[in-house]
Amino acid sequence: MAFTGNIVLTGFMGAGKTAVAEELAHLTGFTRVEVDEEIERSAGMKISEIFDRHGEPRFREMETAEVARAAQKTGAIISTGGGAVMREENMEPLRATGVVVYLRARPETVLKRTSGNADRPLLQVDDPMAKIRELLELRGPYYERAEVIVDTDDKSPRQVAEEILDRVGWKRQP
Ligand code: S3P
Repeated sequence: MAFTGNIVLTGFMGAGKTAVAEELAHLTGFTRVEVDEEIERSAGMKISEIFDRHGEPRFREMETAEVARAAQKTGAIISTGGGAVMREENMEPLRATGVVVYLRARPETVLKRTSGNADRPLLQVDDPMAKIRELLELRGPYYERAEVIVDTDDKSPRQVAEEILDRVGWKRQP
């Protein structure tokens, strides 16, 4: 049976969620919803500014509100921020309307893909690699609850997107 519903991308910063979401939207014609972009739009400021001015707890509240809005969509590629999996109240509505996919990446890949990007407040520390390892260890079990897990190291966003569509059983409409 052809796949219907949303495709929800989860995974650590730098796992490639945004790039893969773009490919998925292109291949399926689904709308793309970036939860981080929606938060920035609602707040009228960048994520880094939200962290600076209001702190992480406030950011997490905003994230939960935007996740709830995103979960109401159908036929969407929903890309979540790397920490969204840590709240069951985020994941429950996402699981209800879509298939949750974990884009897995090794710490070395994450470091390579995120270095030089100042809009990841959690990685603006002296030793980003140690932080990446620490957070990955903490979050791993939550990410691994996803229905579909795809390794992204050494793969292009297009390859990852095709693998996801294959795994969820999506068929192009004739
Ligand atoms: C975060 C990941 C970021 C963003 C915020 C917090 C996290 O999103 O939501 O900086 O806790 O891992 P990306 O995963 O899209 O970078």
